[in-house]
Parts: sequence; structure tokens; C-alpha cells
Amino acid sequence: MQRTLIKAALNRTTGMDRILVKGWVRTRRDSKGFSFLEINDGSCLKNIQVIVDETAPAFSLLKDVGTGAALEVAGTLVESPGAGQKWEIKASELRLLGMADPETFPLQKKRHTDEFLRTIAHLRPRTNKYGALFRIRSEAAFAVHHFFRDRGFFHLHTPILTGSDCEGAGEMFRVSTLPLCPPAPPQGESPFAEDFFGKEASLTVSGQLEAELFACALGNVYTFGPTFRAENSNTPRHAAEFWMIEPEMAFADIVDDMDLGEELVKAMTRHVMENCREDLELFARFVDKGLLGSLDTIMTEAYVRLSYAEAVDILRSSGRPFEFPVHFGADLQTEHERFLCEEHFKKPVIVYDYPREIKAFYMRLNDDDKTVAAMDLLVPRVGELIGGSQREERYAVLERRIVEAGMRLDNYWWYLDARRYGSVPHAGFGLGFERFLMMLTGVTNIRDVIPFPRTPKHLEF
Ligand code: 4AD
Ligand code: MG
Repeated sequence: MQRTLIKAALNRTTGMDRILVKGWVRTRRDSKGFSFLEINDGSCLKNIQVIVDETAPAFSLLKDVGTGAALEVAGTLVESPGAGQKWEIKASELRLLGMADPETFPLQKKRHTDEFLRTIAHLRPRTNKYGALFRIRSEAAFAVHHFFRDRGFFHLHTPILTGSDCEGAGEMFRVSTLPLCPPAPPQGESPFAEDFFGKEASLTVSGQLEAELFACALGNVYTFGPTFRAENSNTPRHAAEFWMIEPEMAFADIVDDMDLGEELVKAMTRHVMENCREDLELFARFVDKGLLGSLDTIMTEAYVRLSYAEAVDILRSSGRPFEFPVHFGADLQTEHERFLCEEHFKKPVIVYDYPREIKAFYMRLNDDDKTVAAMDLLVPRVGELIGGSQREERYAVLERRIVEAGMRLDNYWWYLDARRYGSVPHAGFGLGFERFLMMLTGVTNIRDVIPFPRTPKHLEF
């Protein structure tokens, strides 16, 4: 007999036929003459209840079946007299697929803390909360591809190994095959001459520079892949490895960029609201009571757009004692970003035209010579979700900006070439996928929305 997913079994309109399910035991309860098992196979939040009658031949097998064990159940799908479920299975045959030692199995029926579950990240997807979270993550990723494909964007795979630092922040993980203490290179030779690539290599912090080149060929492209930052900031919003979505549009300016960012966040939110309702409701019940109302605002209301200078004015006149004082020229901190969208405007906010000193070299210099055509999209619960800009398309200006940033021109000759041959206005942004999931679920620590988080001093699993 073919296996039926528990999700499909629970959605059946008629029962009374033979059915085979496989899954893991969530709970077991014994009463006179019967055993009740709750089985989950990961296909949905709900378990299916299995009833084993003591007269059934399978009953003798139950002595080895406890929480966590993997089981195959054949039986009849019948209407459940109990509350909370439409169907249950009257078991006729059981097969123990994998035992779980009840003495050591770490997942008990009680609620565990997120901190504890992080220490058993290999088992946490077997809990209700993390099962729901990673089903949502999968669906949100699908929403990204759906959104861009609908709009004629091409999916671009940019390299993970790179020789350039897109953000110019020097927060790269070096990649090398040299021994730990290599012999000193001959006089005048690069220390990387003997290394695998013959030059310094790193894990990418962003696929943007490569995406720009393809936008200036295919029109509209996007990347969706892992990126790496060796910033030693142990905050609940930073991970050393995270996933980023980076669209890039040719023949586009900063306003097109803001429009696309707003549309993307709305479309991804709507897709998950429509396709993961049951899983999302778990977060609305147990993690953040105001979640669904807030997601409704994110999905339907127009986002506020204001310049960095205006944002600074609002923050300065708020009377709030911020930990980091605000003045024109200071980078906005999470506390400022969250004040703007959670308290002042109570909806997502797009801030544009940042001072050039606090932004990357590739952002287009505005006519005032002081600000760049940058935009950050800030959302409740998270702060910065998107960072983007119109790109500097003027050769001479870009060359100057690279030098000013203290970067080596010869590493970027190919990037500059895009400005020598058919340069056009273009724009794009990066959306942090984990931060989107934090906004969507109310989960407050980035470590809890990645299957296996990588943060300073943590590389388990
Ligand atoms: O603002 P960032 O650094 O922008 C870029 O990387 C550009 N190259 C993007 C582009 O224009 N194509 O990063 C973009 C987003 C941030 O807004 C944030 O959501 C997320 O990536 N992000 C992180 N997420 C988790 N952990 C980190 N350490 C992150 N750093 C950035
Ligand atoms: Mg940023």
C-alpha cells in the first residue's frame, strides 16, 4: 500500500478505507483496552491520532514504542469521536521503523526554551514550533521565485568564492588552501602567490556586483543565495551566514527600487499568509499576539517614504533617550529604525538619501554631493530588512569613489568596464531572508529562523 501524507489524510472528505502512514510518535497515552498515539510526519502542524486496540495483533509491539520513535501504521481511517480532529486511524498493523530511547530522548511533552532547542538543532524541527517555522521558510522561498518570475526577472547564480569585497567593509571570510603557517614568500611576491587561486580569495558578502553586470545584459535579474559576513557583532539580527535576495534592474532609478522593495515584501507576506495559515497562527498564538494584525498592515498599507534628513529630525525631536545619539551623519541604529516603524509611523518605512560617508562606494552620488541615492526599508520587529540603492553609472565618479573608499582599482576593472560600454542607470537592493522570517513570525532571534545558525564561536552541526 502507498504511504499517505498525514496532511492529505486529515484533509480527506470521506473515510472508512485502508490507509498507511509513517511518522514519529509525538505522544503516547494508554487507557483501559487501548493505546492512543499521536503521530506527526512533518507534512503539517497537526498530528494524526492512532488507536491500537489491545486485541489487535500489533498491540504487543507497543512495548517498544515511545515518544520520538518512528512508526509505520496501517489501518482504517475513521471519523474521530474526540474533539479537535475529524479523522483518526484504527490501527491493524504497526511496524517499528526506528526506536527512540525514552531515557535519553531530549524532547519532552513540556515546552522547551528556544535557547535549549538551539543546543539540539538537529532535533528541533521535530517540535511544533520549528516544524511550522521551516515549512514557512520553504514557502517564503518559493514566493520569491514566484514573484520575480511573474515580473520577467531572470534568476542568476552568482559565485560564492570571490576576489572582491562588495560592501568594502572588510568583513570577509578568507578562503585558502595554504598550510596554517606557510613559509614566507620570496621578496616582492604576494603572500597568496602559492595559494589555490594565486590571489586572496574570500566567501562573498553579496552577489550585487555580478548581478549588476547581468542586469546590464538581461535587463532584470535576481540572486537568492547564501552570503557570509565576518562581522563580530553578536546581535539577535546578525548571522555569519545568511541568505539574501538581490534583485537588480537596468534602466531603473531609486524610485523604481523603492517600488520593487515594497511590492516584494507585500507579495511574500501575502503568499505565506495564504499558504501557511495554520503554521502562522501558531506564532500568533504563542509568540506575538499582535502578529496577524501587523502582517495585515504590512500587506495592505502604503509604506512611508522619507529622506534620511527628515528621519533624523523626527528622531531628534522625539524626546527619546536613545542609547546612540542621533545627528546628521550618524548611521541609524536598530533602536532608531524600530522607533520609526513601530512607534512613530506604525508601519514599514523607507528611508532614502543617506550621507555618502556611511554608505558603500557603489551608490549613486546625488547632486548635492553630500548624499547618495540609497534606500533602506525598515519593518516592525526587525528594523532594516532591505538595503539598496541606485548604482553609480558614471565612470569618473565611480573611479573616484573606489579610490576614496581605499579600495584597489585593479580588483574592480571589470566592474568599471560596465561603465565604459553602454552604461545605463540601474538600481537594486538586498533583502535579508532571515530578517524577513523574523518579521513574519515574530521570532526575535535570527538563530531561530535558520536551520543551522553560524554565529561567532558557534559552528555545531
Ligand atoms: O545592507 P546590506 O549590507 O546590502 C548589501 O549587501 C547590498 N550589496 C545589497 C544590494 O544592494 N544588492 O545587506 C542587505 C540586507 C540587510 O538589509 C539585512 O536585511 C541583511 O541583508 N543582512 C543580514 N542579515 C543577517 N545577518 C547579517 N549579518 C546581515 N547583514 C545584512
Ligand atoms: Mg545595510
